[in-house]
Amino acid sequence: MPRQEPDGSAPLTPYNLVTTWFWVAGDPAQPVRLTELEAAWFEGEAYAPEVIAAWIRMGTERWQNKSCYWIPGEGGSDRQPPGGAWGAEPRILGEIQPYGIHHTVASDEWAIQDCQECHSDQSRVTQSFELAAHVPPGAEAAFVGGSTAIASGEILAGADGGLVYKPDTDSRQLYVLGHNRAEWVDWLGGLLFIGVLIGIVIHGGLRVISAMRHRTEAPEPATEPVRMYGVYERLWHWLQTFAIVALLFTGLVIHRPDTFGMFSFRGVVLVHNILAAILVVNAALSLFYHLTSGEIRQFVPRPVGFFDQAFLQAKYYLKGIFRGEPHPFEKTPGKKLNPLQQVTYFGILNVLLPLMILTGILMWGAERWPEYSAAIGGLTVLGPVHSGIAWMLAAFIVGHVYLTTTGPKPLSSLQGMMFGTEDVEQGHLETQGGEA
Ligand code: HEC
Repeated sequence: MPRQEPDGSAPLTPYNLVTTWFWVAGDPAQPVRLTELEAAWFEGEAYAPEVIAAWIRMGTERWQNKSCYWIPGEGGSDRQPPGGAWGAEPRILGEIQPYGIHHTVASDEWAIQDCQECHSDQSRVTQSFELAAHVPPGAEAAFVGGSTAIASGEILAGADGGLVYKPDTDSRQLYVLGHNRAEWVDWLGGLLFIGVLIGIVIHGGLRVISAMRHRTEAPEPATEPVRMYGVYERLWHWLQTFAIVALLFTGLVIHRPDTFGMFSFRGVVLVHNILAAILVVNAALSLFYHLTSGEIRQFVPRPVGFFDQAFLQAKYYLKGIFRGEPHPFEKTPGKKLNPLQQVTYFGILNVLLPLMILTGILMWGAERWPEYSAAIGGLTVLGPVHSGIAWMLAAFIVGHVYLTTTGPKPLSSLQGMMFGTEDVEQGHLETQGGEA
């Protein structure tokens, strides 16, 4: 359970829950004294015959449950305690007292080593705690006030008529990786991802059909090889590709460890962190390269005429491409990106990637510097934002790979990014786009 510390934090600490059961009556409830209980139940040393008769009439269930209590008036007995001292509505109440466990707590080398004990659907941090093996139907239990333990779960009827305390992660504001997920983020992200896939299938299918139709009329466009990407550009591109794809996969395993049970959670978290470090260093180096070489300008959309150009490019993808029309903008080493690529990369590089790195660092540092992650809502905010952006990046990668096939030949762009030299269309460029 979380324990309220004087500094306002509430770390999880071990507790034992001890429940005391006693009779109360009246409103407000007052404990029933033992002498009154005895007077109601007993005659001399033994149970009163009326009580036994009531039990027999009520059946054997209570005997079997080992919970032989009797509430005056129950089972058709009109036995009244002498003086009617019970008052109204006699019932059994439980008081749960959390006792902090401070002694005989094993040191960290004895701590649970298996991450999935907690980081999984059946997380140990939500394991239920038995409060009573058997309780009379309707008996209630509540936490006593004044404890530093923060009650954060539900008190539920257990199997066999018992009562259990089921801690949950939501009310504790916990986001345990692999156990907690923001369902709506996964739904929206999944829809986006599948939407992109469906779009690709439709668009690609239409391209194939129209290519077959126009095969005879439109000759293959004439192309010439152009040195498009330097060695360093290709190196950082493929290293980043590797890092992002592997981050997406390891992130998925951390997100759903139960689905990917064959991977060690600890190993995957380690690999994820190392990959993230590679990605950040690689991104920083390439930023340095693009800034110092001035190549960064290629990535910045020019405001003048931008919308018209983006519109032209979109029109090409929606119409021209099916008619074998030439690309509206020339791809040259000095201007590799069309306007739609520019906005997309602009958004990814300025918004998504920084957010991903920031949320990742804060999650990684949540234990080390909890105050920073807490400042923007803690893991309950960081986790869903991180996985939401992961979905977007996954959708982007799929779309990106598909769009590489829209060059003069399906593999032209891939060839350029692999070997540096790329076939580009000849001829139409002087009349269109150009350095626009
Ligand atoms: C006893 C349960 C338990 C075990 C075992 C456990 N964790 Fe956690 N883990 C938690 C809880 C609880 C949190 C914090 C959740 C919160 O603050 O919302 C957490 C948070 C994390 C976080 C995110 C916050 C941070 O500090 O980076 C990572 C990563 C993590 N655990 C990895 C691991 C790995 C790897 C292992 C295995 C070596 C492991 N955990 C074992 C319960 C556990």
